[in-house]
Formats: sequence, structure tokens, C-alpha cells
Amino acid sequence: MCPMLNENSKCILGRLPGRFVRRQIFNVMIPAVLRSSFPIAMSDPAVNTMIKVDSQESLEEKLSTYHVSPVCGYLLSSPRSMLPGYFDDWNEIALHLTDFIEEGNIRQKVEKMSVLDHEQLTSHRELRLAHLMLTGIAAAYVWTDGVKGIPKFLPSCVAVPLWRVSERLGVQPIMSHCSWSLANWKIIDQSKPATDLKNRELIVNLPGGDTAKWFFLMQQQTDLISGPGIAYAIGMKKAVLDGDEVRLVQNLGLLKSTVKKMEVCIKQIHGLCDPDTFFHVLRPFMMGFGSQPFTAAGYGGLVFQGISDVPQQHLGASAAQSPAIPIFDAALGIIHDTSNENFHETMRRYMLPAHRKLIEDLRKGPSTKTFVDKCSNEKTTKAYDDCLQAVADFRSSHLKIVARFITIPLRKDERKTEDAVAKGTGGSDVLKYLKSTRSATTDTMFKTKTNST
Ligand code: HEM
Repeated sequence: MCPMLNENSKCILGRLPGRFVRRQIFNVMIPAVLRSSFPIAMSDPAVNTMIKVDSQESLEEKLSTYHVSPVCGYLLSSPRSMLPGYFDDWNEIALHLTDFIEEGNIRQKVEKMSVLDHEQLTSHRELRLAHLMLTGIAAAYVWTDGVKGIPKFLPSCVAVPLWRVSERLGVQPIMSHCSWSLANWKIIDQSKPATDLKNRELIVNLPGGDTAKWFFLMQQQTDLISGPGIAYAIGMKKAVLDGDEVRLVQNLGLLKSTVKKMEVCIKQIHGLCDPDTFFHVLRPFMMGFGSQPFTAAGYGGLVFQGISDVPQQHLGASAAQSPAIPIFDAALGIIHDTSNENFHETMRRYMLPAHRKLIEDLRKGPSTKTFVDKCSNEKTTKAYDDCLQAVADFRSSHLKIVARFITIPLRKDERKTEDAVAKGTGGSDVLKYLKSTRSATTDTMFKTKTNST
């Protein structure tokens, strides 16, 4: 079943029966070139090693095993917005996080929470919501008094279920992109499509008002827009395996258009989010356990009571944990330098295992660049370079966002000498790192163009 369709066969796009909508989505969203290419690719044993697709299976079904869909990308379909009554303590606190933070009583509320049995969570959707709620509760508990007032311990009523739920999902026990962007949405008007940005709202919020809301929703929308690109990326790799230059050029063109749409989407952040609110109000809640404030306090990390007395370190939330761009890097054969590759590998540990696997599978198989080189055809080379340029342009626009939302407020900030704030929430030395991921993209091109930033 397509992961974007819920168990009752209702589609994210509205109230139409799942089977009908699935057929429509598949026909509309997947270009004929890809649909027709799969029977050829499926018979190739090399393809089965890279992305196992047997002849009985459609692309759509295959993608569902990676928890992705061409319609909604990496977003969880029809997420739950409340846990069953047994978990009311979590519902009550997580759904009012900002109120309790503002009232200054979040720590008391959390400390009074019952110790609940995570084994009562039975479905994937319940686990995803529990992770979203518990990571929000943990972030609020840790950062409510700012970077100078952090606690040494996370109480066992949060620490134990958060740790166990994360283990069950195969992700990290801290606020991450997989929950806060991909599973943090509910539909506003059931008669309208959830793909419409204005028809979704967040389930769990953090301080920062509209800036916080749009920060998460715009990341979510970018992940959603990248959806068709997953099929094009796979189609591209399959075309390389099949030695089919025409299909490769078509998929490169389609992928380029998808990346351009993603770039248009992220640029809207400038008009929707306020840099100072982002930097001073929201961002502190997204910092890692073990980041500079923990070092400054002499804690080394956060002790998860009931799990271990050893302080635990986990990186903060970052869209670098989104699979959207890494999948294109993998399919296009963009190789980052060793330290960046190591950072990306770390970021993959914060992704859902199914998304991680998709990236790993796309990294396998013959190199797209080598194939393009062997083709020695100007049209193919240009299609490849144009697609890489679109990814580099996305990275340039992203760099401008980071400069405006992190670097500039940081310069204005009297605390600018504090090392931790100069780094990304994911722990990177931001601008240097982002420029080098862009250089790796343009360096992969046959004819490098210049960048504006
Ligand atoms: C206000 C909005 C945003 C800010 C402030 C921001 C900030 C950052 C920072 C600081 C990093 C460096 C890694 C780290 O240490 O965390 C990063 C990396 C990254 N971000 Fe964003 N980001 C924003 C929006 C987005 C959006 C909407 C996307 C879309 C998916 C995105 C995708 C990425 C990617 C893919 C990386 C890894 C670097 C690369 O591959 O070039 N970011 N971001």
C-alpha cells in the first residue's frame, strides 16, 4: 500500500477511495517514460541488487517499502494527531508545550507525568507521534530556562519511553527532522488536499509563533515537493543500468524541474519567518544534547534517567537530516569531501531506516557521471550539467537563508563569541560546510558555471 494512504484507504489528497486515487496518482504523477521503463529494468539482475523490483510489483508499491511516495515525498501519510487515552499525560503536555513554556511550569508538569508503558503503542503511526511528542517534551524540559539553565538529567517518565520508542523506530532520541518535519502535520479542511501548504497545520509547536510554524511547514513542503524527484532519481539510475541515454536525459530534465520547484519553495521562508525570532526564540530549543551549553555546564551530555548514568550526546535538529537532497546527490553521483561525507553519514542516523536505505541503494550501481562521459553526447552532458546546476542553485539559495537566519543574527548577538552558537544545530561549521557541499556539486559538472554567492 502506498504509504501516503491511510489504513482506511483514504488518500491524503482528499476523501476519495484509496484504490481509485492510487491509480490516478500513479498515472498522473509518474511520467510514461518511467512507467514503461520498469518492465525492462526489472528483468536486469543488476537492478535487483540496487533496488529490488520484481515483475509483480509496481514502482508505487516498491516506493512504499521505502516509506516514500511520488505524491508526498517523505511525509508520513495521515499521521495521528492524538495518542490513545492511556497516553493522555503525553497528549496533554505535548499539545500545549508553548503554553507551559510561557507559563514557566513545563518542568513541574513533566516531573508529575506518569511512567507509561511504551509497549502500549502498537502501530507505526503511534510510534511516530510518540516520538514527535516525547522529543518535544524533552526539548521543552531541557531548554525552557535558556542555554544557561539546562538540567543534568531527563526524568525517567520521558527518558525511558523516548529511548525505547526511538529504538523501535531506528532513530535518535532527540528532536529530529523525521518527526518535526515529516510527521508533524494535520489537515485543516478534509475536503481540500493536504498537499496544499495552507491546508496543513502542525500537531506539536514550539515557541516562536508564526516563524516556528512556517519554519517547520516550509521544510515539510520542500520534502513533499521533492516527491516526484524520487521516481526520477530511480529512473535515472535505471536508465544508466539499461544504457538508455534517451530515458536518462528525460529523467534528468524532470529531476531538474523538481529541484527548481524546491528552490522556489525554500525561498518563501524569507517572507514567512523572522530571522531574529528564529535565531533567539526557536533555535535554542533545537540544540543538541551535548552541545556547547552542556560542555559549559560541565555535564558532557544529558543523562537519560532509567536508561544509563552516562551522559548521552545527540545532535540537534537540522534539515540536513532530510533525505530529499542526499537522494539526488546519490543518484547524480555527487561526492562530498571526507569530512562532509562523515557529517552526512551522521545525519543519516537521524533519518528513518527506510529512508536511509533508499539513499544507500541509490549510491550503489554504476556511476551516472561515468555513463554520461562515455555517451560523449552534448545533449546528455548538458542535461546532466543542468540538473547539477539546479542542485547547486538550490544550495546557493539555501546558503542565503542560512546567512540571513543564522550568520547575521549571530553577528548582532552579543554572545557571538560562544562557539556553540556559531555552529549549525547539526553541529557543523555552517557557511564553510555549505559552500563546500555546493562546490562538490559544481565540481561534478563537465562544464562548471560560476555561482553568485
Ligand atoms: C530557516 C531555514 C533553514 C535554516 C536556518 C537552515 C540551516 C541549515 C544549517 C545550519 C545547515 C548546516 C547543517 C547543520 O549543522 O545543521 C543546514 C544544512 C542543510 N539544510 Fe538547511 N536550513 C533551513 C532550511 C532548509 C530547508 C527548507 C531545506 C530543504 C530540504 C534544507 C536542507 C538542508 C540540507 C540538504 C542541508 C545539508 C547541506 C547540503 O547538503 O548542502 N534546509 N541547514
